[in-house]
Amino acid sequence: MADVSGPTSFEFGLEPTTDPAWFLVDRRCDPLRQSSRETRFAISNGFLGVRGSQALNPGAGTGIQPHTYVAGLFDTSSAEGSLPGLVHVADWLQVRILLRGCSLAHHADELSLHRLTLDMRRGAFLTECGQPNAPPLGVRLRTLRLVSLHQRALGLQMVELEIEDPEIEVEFEASFEGLSTGLVSERLEQDLAVWRTERSGKRLAIAASSSLQMDGQELTPEAKGPFRWVWNWTSKRGQIACFQRIVAIRRSDRADLDPGPEARGTLEYARHLGWRDVLSNHEAAWARRWRDSDVEIEGDADAQQALRFAIYQLNSAANPDDEHVSIGARGLTGDDYRGHVFWDTEIFLLPFYSLTWPEAARTLLMYRFFTLDAARKKAARMGWRGALYAWESADTGDETTPEQVIGPDRKVIEVWSGRQEQHISADVAYAVWQYWQASGDVGFFLAAGAEILLETGRFWASRAQPEADGYCHIRGVIGPDEYHENIDDNAFTNVMARWNIRQALDVVALLRARWPERWSQLASHLGLSDMEMTEWRTTADTIATGLNPETGIFEQFAGFFSLEDINLADYAGRSVPMDVVLGRERTQRSQVVKQADVVALLCLLPEEFHGQSAGDNFHYYESRCGHGSSLSRSMHGLTAARLGYCDMALQFFQQTAAIDLADTHVAIAGGVHIASQGGIWLMAVFGFAGLSLLTDGIAINPQLPKAWLSLCFRVQWRGQCLKIKLEQANGLVECWLEAGEPISLVVRGQRHELHVSRPLHLVTRPAAKPDQGLESKNAS
Ligand code: BGC
Repeated sequence: MADVSGPTSFEFGLEPTTDPAWFLVDRRCDPLRQSSRETRFAISNGFLGVRGSQALNPGAGTGIQPHTYVAGLFDTSSAEGSLPGLVHVADWLQVRILLRGCSLAHHADELSLHRLTLDMRRGAFLTECGQPNAPPLGVRLRTLRLVSLHQRALGLQMVELEIEDPEIEVEFEASFEGLSTGLVSERLEQDLAVWRTERSGKRLAIAASSSLQMDGQELTPEAKGPFRWVWNWTSKRGQIACFQRIVAIRRSDRADLDPGPEARGTLEYARHLGWRDVLSNHEAAWARRWRDSDVEIEGDADAQQALRFAIYQLNSAANPDDEHVSIGARGLTGDDYRGHVFWDTEIFLLPFYSLTWPEAARTLLMYRFFTLDAARKKAARMGWRGALYAWESADTGDETTPEQVIGPDRKVIEVWSGRQEQHISADVAYAVWQYWQASGDVGFFLAAGAEILLETGRFWASRAQPEADGYCHIRGVIGPDEYHENIDDNAFTNVMARWNIRQALDVVALLRARWPERWSQLASHLGLSDMEMTEWRTTADTIATGLNPETGIFEQFAGFFSLEDINLADYAGRSVPMDVVLGRERTQRSQVVKQADVVALLCLLPEEFHGQSAGDNFHYYESRCGHGSSLSRSMHGLTAARLGYCDMALQFFQQTAAIDLADTHVAIAGGVHIASQGGIWLMAVFGFAGLSLLTDGIAINPQLPKAWLSLCFRVQWRGQCLKIKLEQANGLVECWLEAGEPISLVVRGQRHELHVSRPLHLVTRPAAKPDQGLESKNAS
């Protein structure tokens, strides 16, 4: 785990925070871990993302990737078949300091003091370096950077330079790097630049201002060209120079709309406020997010820190003001997957937003609404009806999955996910339904949600074809377990498809009953007839699921049980994924599963598993899972916690946390695994607290790990805010309704009515914990 000890002091007017669970601190200077560190210390606000590269310009050849990303700024290259990817924009944080004509040592190993800090409470990245009290040159440099959560177009950089010695000639240069890369320059002025993308018809503007103060006096810079300012002075003993730079960044999705004036206007607004207010507005916005979404754990400092990091990442990744972007698999923290959006967002992230930040959830789902046409076209192109969402999606919703990649053995591999990984449509529908359940947002349901549910349901009804055995089959797909391609009747896909069709039918019934006018409009707009809906029902009722009624075990797909059964425990301790160990072909002929598949179904639709069969399916598939995806362990952890296997669940929780926080074999240079961060929150709230959504309220069924003395969090339910505290001792459950009408809360199967004036305090008998000591034999 990363160092958790908090910083000792900060300037910039920040109140020191002493609780280490709010910080990530790194004092090591290992150049081999540089790119992982840049990922881990990245800052983002859902619109801008900046990697945590070091403060001073390190020069070429250091492998540093000081990338800034702008959500939605996709472009393709001129190469044939090139797919859209997020463009890197100019690095606005460059600083170069010359002391007596020599560059201030910036190779961290030359410095006696070096510390990077991610202040998660405030959403700020701070660094401190230098050689204090080191004759002949005692210097200390502190930096802060943030991208504002209050006004997402703004970035702020602060640098404090303290020189102990007098009479030193100092040159301080602030500039931008990469002004001419990635984008086509349209206008370049001293403090404003406008670019356009080469092919996607978007434009970008950055306006910036810089200033430097000494003893409260502003020094006049020499403007040396666009975005380049230089200050020179002679030091006095103990003097501190304070540098600030503010940038305003605006994206335009229309080639004929110049974002320059807007960027300039935003910058003017920020300059008028001054950096202190920019900083305090940002801090206040973070304080609001933490108030609504923090999860507190007593008794397990590592778990607390992992949760804080996860919640920090989740709050950083979304932007409730932009309905045309969603969250890529690495958020805005790295290049992997080029900003593309997967099922990760709907299945692993949406629950957090739906329950703690409904505005963000709604916006993310509106992105799916605005890309519904692309999904309809994809379905039609492949010969089906309704909407089939892109497996990988960028700004337009067109399919952006590469058709080939280079495998670990350097061979070209065909990628079938763009054609066959179709469960994405049911995953989007699932998230829409979950948001609708949690929020009761009628405006969204009528304007967008209902149509998504109808069109995805319609897709499945056309996709599942009746055959001579009397069942409807879905052939030629890939389930979440991507080791097996072109399979028939994947249990996850088929059962989710059936759920999706039935939910679409429920939508029809609901619209007819409560909003008949909207129903008539939608029915005529989509050309939905009673006959088609009768067909939907028949399809749903006859879909093959692979459930063996005698054993209660779902066959992951047709023929899975006859594949080679490999004992994964024999491979414990391996450092590479199972498909690398066994080779692709043998993996495909085996029952080795890449990631939760039937277990994912158990997670999403537990009501499909009766009695003992939940545990039986879990055991069967958990022991065959190689966890070849960062998404896998959290699904297992959530399910294990629900089943009462708390030790095993905690093990999955820790392993999931380690993906981005520990320097294990998993590469994080390409960005934070945002789905596993969502999974951490899910394990705590849906797993250990056992939260589930009912049609008329919320249920909890806590199963805390032994070491967790208490778990406390807030969720929102249809506009009301609930605080829930669970204690290990006596299974104490406390709930407060903070405002609004009474709501129904089911605790361990017992229904209670929760009123604002009457908090609930229940001493519950701890539920039987069948296998507290159970461990995964297959953990690697
Ligand atoms: C996983 C997918 C996931 C994608 C992006 C792949 O390795 O198998 O389930 O959506 O990564 O995170």
